[in-house]
Amino acid sequence: MNPRPTVLLSYAQSVDGRIATITGDSRWISGDDTLTLAHTLRHQNDAIMVGIGTVLRDDPELSCRLPEGRSPVRVILDSALQTPLTSRIAQTSGAQPTILFCAPDPDPLRLARLQDCGIDVVAVSRGTAGLQLQAVLAELAGRAIGSLFVEGGAAVLTAFLRERLVDRLLVVIAPMIIGRGVESVGELGVRAMAEAIRFTPVSLEQLGNDLVWELRP
Ligand SMILES: NC(=O)c1ccc[n+]([C@@H]2O[C@H](COP(=O)([O-])OP(=O)(O)OC[C@H]3O[C@@H](n4cnc5c(N)ncnc54)[C@H](OP(=O)(O)O)[C@@H]3O)[C@@H](O)[C@H]2O)c1
Repeated sequence: MNPRPTVLLSYAQSVDGRIATITGDSRWISGDDTLTLAHTLRHQNDAIMVGIGTVLRDDPELSCRLPEGRSPVRVILDSALQTPLTSRIAQTSGAQPTILFCAPDPDPLRLARLQDCGIDVVAVSRGTAGLQLQAVLAELAGRAIGSLFVEGGAAVLTAFLRERLVDRLLVVIAPMIIGRGVESVGELGVRAMAEAIRFTPVSLEQLGNDLVWELRP
């Protein structure tokens, strides 16, 4: 049996490799057609994951807004239980299942309040940079989650790539340049070209004005 869900990483970036401006604004980089693609990916995967940075910056709902679409289980990486009780995630957790991973020994009051919202809070060990992703994925596999769509932000995308936990990469490239901003992918420890993570292109298509490039490791 697969010990972890298959992992799809997908993000929308500018031509110069930014997923947000220097202030963190990312709405919207992609055009309407690719936003529909994002909702299709939510429909197709059992779960969707973002980090607490994205929750705090964007307050996303992470639902599938296609007619007849199925909303995935939401997975949040939030070591210190910073997810606001007023966030869309917390406010809609009664209707759309949400699993929030935190570090061991969470603050009992915050834990109780998030649980009262209907959020399933699970403590996992810390790794060298953030929560241990292998433990997170094993926990998800144990809950019958077979496919995971990792939507961001930069720190989470970087961590999955650094740990080589990506089965499929879907990069949306929008015809814009942002300049200094939030890089799609941060430090991976690559110093020589021979160490770069290489992918095999699977498909390349234009949706509206955006390019959608599917890659596999
Ligand atoms: N264009 C796009 O496709 C797209 C998509 C999504 C987001 N965004 C943008 O991305 C930006 C947010 O990115 P971000 O890097 O600040 O935040 P992020 O990646 O959403 O969240 C990072 C946080 O997640 C927590 N975390 C727990 N375990 C982790 C692990 N193993 N690896 C990495 N993080 C872990 C850490 O906080 P704790 O230590 O507190 O747990 C970490 O600071 C926003 O500007 C948002 O708009 C763009």
